[in-house]
Amino acid sequence: MGSLDGRVVVITGAGRGIGREHALLYAAEGAKVVVNDLGGAVDGSGNDVTAAELVVKEIQALGGEAIANTDDVASWDGAERLISSAVEHFGDLHVLVNNAGILRDRTLVNMSEQEWDAVIHVHLKGHFCPLRHAAAYWRDQAKAGSAVKRSVINTSSTSGLFGQPGQTNYGAAKSGIAMMTMIASGELARYHVRVNAIAPAALTRLTAGLPGVPDPNKGEEVGAMDPANVSPFVAYLGTEDCPITGRVFFVMGNRVQLFQPWSIIDKIEKPGADRWTVGELAAEAAKFATVPFELNHPMRG
Ligand SMILES: NC(=O)c1ccc[n+]([C@@H]2O[C@H](COP(=O)([O-])OP(=O)(O)OC[C@H]3O[C@@H](n4cnc5c(N)ncnc54)[C@H](O)[C@@H]3O)[C@@H](O)[C@H]2O)c1
Repeated sequence: MGSLDGRVVVITGAGRGIGREHALLYAAEGAKVVVNDLGGAVDGSGNDVTAAELVVKEIQALGGEAIANTDDVASWDGAERLISSAVEHFGDLHVLVNNAGILRDRTLVNMSEQEWDAVIHVHLKGHFCPLRHAAAYWRDQAKAGSAVKRSVINTSSTSGLFGQPGQTNYGAAKSGIAMMTMIASGELARYHVRVNAIAPAALTRLTAGLPGVPDPNKGEEVGAMDPANVSPFVAYLGTEDCPITGRVFFVMGNRVQLFQPWSIIDKIEKPGADRWTVGELAAEAAKFATVPFELNHPMRG
């Protein structure tokens, strides 16, 4: 008995890296997997349709069930085909793992319009489109009387939750994905859908260029940063009886940490109904410059 027996899952960007590990574990736990990947380079250019097909072959060789899909997740029609392929081939859809992503790092002052657009497009729209089409299918199922429990796992990043210089495009998209997760969780609960997000940390080709960081593609030892370490929690979030929704987690190695969303930690308030003057604010509000934030960044002291 696997923990995901009979569950049908769509995993985006599952041809490589963290997504590939999700696909292998979901299949090993008994899920039927739609392996999506358009097989692009790290910056999103090009396409190699064999990336998804190779993972499907790996799953089938281990006795699992999978099909490949090479649609662009940020395409409205492509994402609709992706969601439909699960229902048409496996008869239903229980779990959506939004994972596909690219990087085009550049300092803000040097970032081109194309670098901004490409990253926002693949991450933000590439999460929204599959989620939107899956949600429409699940709403129809719920309205037809289905009480089957569904789950979405989105992929954010510490770059979007703590910030990382050189990644205004990526950070803005990943921050948006965290909030998209919380809003979707509230909206879709009535259709028996839970929505969570992870911010993973693992060594893949996305991290390969960083100084002093081992490159798994060169066979270098990755230790706790093995991308396969991220997948068990993503599999748990996809299980039928998992109670968690609307939460964002940092997942690295054998550690799972729960984020607190934006919260208010200090305030000023003028007594009575009068509006503040700028001069009064200069006296009262300047203290906000030095109120310390407790970021608790898991990878910095
Ligand atoms: N590696 C890390 O430490 C880390 C940290 C934080 C967040 N993430 C996020 O985790 C996710 C997976 O990253 P990874 O490190 O495994 O990278 P990866 O490059 O190894 O895998 C990403 C996959 O997404 C696919 N893809 C890209 N654009 C696509 C599109 N439009 N449609 C379909 N497929 C597409 C790529 O072809 C690739 O196979 C990404 O969303 C990334 O931003 C990774």
